[in-house]
Amino acid sequence: MAPRHQAPRGTRDLLPADTRLWRWAEARALQVLERYGFGELRSPMFEEYELFARTAGESSDVVQKEMYRFQDLGERDLALRPEFTAGVMRAYLEHGLGGRARVHRLWSMGPVFRYGRPQKGRYRQFSQINAELVGSAAPGADVEVISLFVDLYEAWGFRDLTVLINSVGQPASRRAYGERLRELLAPFAERLSEDSRRRLEQNPLRVLDTKSEGDLAVLAELRESGAGLPRMIDLLDTDDRAHWDQVLAGLEAAGVAVEIDHGLVRGLDYYTRTAFEVHDRSLGAQSALGGGGRYDGLIEMLGGPPTPGVGFAIGLDRALLVLEERGTAPPLADTVCVVAMDSTRAAAQALVRRLRREFPVEADVEARAFGAQMKAAGKSGARLLVIVGEDEWKQGVVALKDSRTGTQQSVAVDRLADTLRGLLSGQETQGGA
Ligand code: HAM
Repeated sequence: MAPRHQAPRGTRDLLPADTRLWRWAEARALQVLERYGFGELRSPMFEEYELFARTAGESSDVVQKEMYRFQDLGERDLALRPEFTAGVMRAYLEHGLGGRARVHRLWSMGPVFRYGRPQKGRYRQFSQINAELVGSAAPGADVEVISLFVDLYEAWGFRDLTVLINSVGQPASRRAYGERLRELLAPFAERLSEDSRRRLEQNPLRVLDTKSEGDLAVLAELRESGAGLPRMIDLLDTDDRAHWDQVLAGLEAAGVAVEIDHGLVRGLDYYTRTAFEVHDRSLGAQSALGGGGRYDGLIEMLGGPPTPGVGFAIGLDRALLVLEERGTAPPLADTVCVVAMDSTRAAAQALVRRLRREFPVEADVEARAFGAQMKAAGKSGARLLVIVGEDEWKQGVVALKDSRTGTQQSVAVDRLADTLRGLLSGQETQGGA
């Protein structure tokens, strides 16, 4: 019989075989974030619609076509968060964090929602790891954030990642750049996609972010023409240019490989100065594994005092798709299986419960015969077998079999936990290390 319900389009269930990798990746990420001195901020999954509309930019795809906007029963205009940054900054202001310390390092993790067309690596509910360094305008802050960004991927086993980087300047220099692009692209308007024609009107920089083949051909033609495509970094003012140079020098000093990408613009409008992304070609069209940048005007936009900030978000679904394809599998924790006889079943129950305070323990729940339990233990791949025999139990001992070495020993029940600890120590537990 076909099931009556399916997960909504663009959402996925992660089954235990999937969540094992997720938990491992999350635990590794958490270690790196803590080493960088970041603290966790948890904000609500929905906020006032206006918060996102104001910060992401009215002309951005996120606001124009991807928002899960709804009215609650009190007729409030709300939206599921399409990203973390706006909510984190709202919380930063609401709790007066700026008055408590000059610089804050904040991370968040969890689901975000965008109503896009689902495809490989693109979902309507997906997860991000988000990090923000709020309160410093120094190039060193950009360098630290980009180093953290790269170190997170490296903790998952990614090697030789190239971070694409650009400067998107300030609203004024960006406007001048946009005007220049609009003039250059106007003669080609007929050949551009509908999306790009709209962007040409509302936010010409975003044309550079197009995925349409026809648009890309126009851009390539323009790049190779005599005039060429103008570069944003050539229109930066002196301070922005100095910031850019220092960020590049800092990244080099830190040993972070970057590649300048003059076409990198990002999909959200709040960025100033540094913008960066990392891609993995194996994902096809949805190749961005993560991205971020500086947003020095964002907090003011929300009614706060001028406060610079820089941060990023990593798309966990995409990063983990790549890891899965590469066969990355977190090590399975060694488990203990307790096998009892009919006569020792009750005693074994208390033993199992005690051992589970410390070790992963499997035990029969169906009062199966000894032979069936031994068979199940062999199948489950448990490393250590604790056999609670009747005579042994009366003498205060159990048999302990190590399937890795094939050895068996008799262990006093009150020494059992110490012995197991000794045998299992030094290994990574599931989701840990
Ligand atoms: P974003 O580039 O919009 O940045 O999203 C970051 C990452 O989320 C993307 O690189 C991608 O891996 C993942 N992502 C985006 N949309 C989807 C989707 N539909 N399905 C699966 N994964 C997706 C931001 O969200 C900014 N808030 C980052 C930031 C933080 N900038 C400063 N601070």
